[in-house]
Amino acid sequence: MQADKKRLVILISGSGSNLQAFIDHCASGQLQAQIVAVICNKPGAYGLERAAQAGINTHVIEHGDYANRESFDAALADLVDSYQADAVILAGFMRILTPVFVDRFLGRLLNIHPSLLPKYPGLNTHQRAIDAQDSHAGVSVHFVTAELDGGPVILQAEQAIEAQDTAESLAKKVLHKEHIIYPMATNWLLTGRLALHEDGAYLDGKILPKTGILLD
Ligand code: GRF
Repeated sequence: MQADKKRLVILISGSGSNLQAFIDHCASGQLQAQIVAVICNKPGAYGLERAAQAGINTHVIEHGDYANRESFDAALADLVDSYQADAVILAGFMRILTPVFVDRFLGRLLNIHPSLLPKYPGLNTHQRAIDAQDSHAGVSVHFVTAELDGGPVILQAEQAIEAQDTAESLAKKVLHKEHIIYPMATNWLLTGRLALHEDGAYLDGKILPKTGILLD
């Protein structure tokens, strides 16, 4: 472990392509950080293999082993805390976190959500954008607060919806953009440019609009 580098803990449930983007950005030095642990709530998730291949500590923690949501969240929070994380990155972590977890990491807890928030919190975002005949789908990086997919947005990227697009084809195109904007927003947080205040997200001392910054 390098003492001078900021410490990331990344939570996943699935394929971990966003995790891979962080691994690559750390390796190339684009992100001055080290991933100190990957925690997953689904045994066998491919992201665990990506982490192991990169030599990162992994943990599997399953909610079925806990009496209720709060006790799971408390155990998860203790595990994350044991790594003294500067930032906690939810990267396809498919479990709603209660204030027991969220409040402990407020201001250093980020999520990526595949829609242009505040549109389409929750699931099936790309299909919902197609069904609504939106011109664009997209993705948002936001601070996590107790409200589901509702914390202040930091950075968004858009993806035009074409006539032949399906939810799957859109998801693929949007993922490419996720892999750019998530490490970018995290870098702002780790370098002290980005902060969460009561009235919203601030970048370089200025409050961001409700939909964050749109990446060109
Ligand atoms: C991404 O679409 C992300 O926006 C959403 O979950 C998916 C995770 O994909 N929160 P991956 O596991 O990083 O490939």
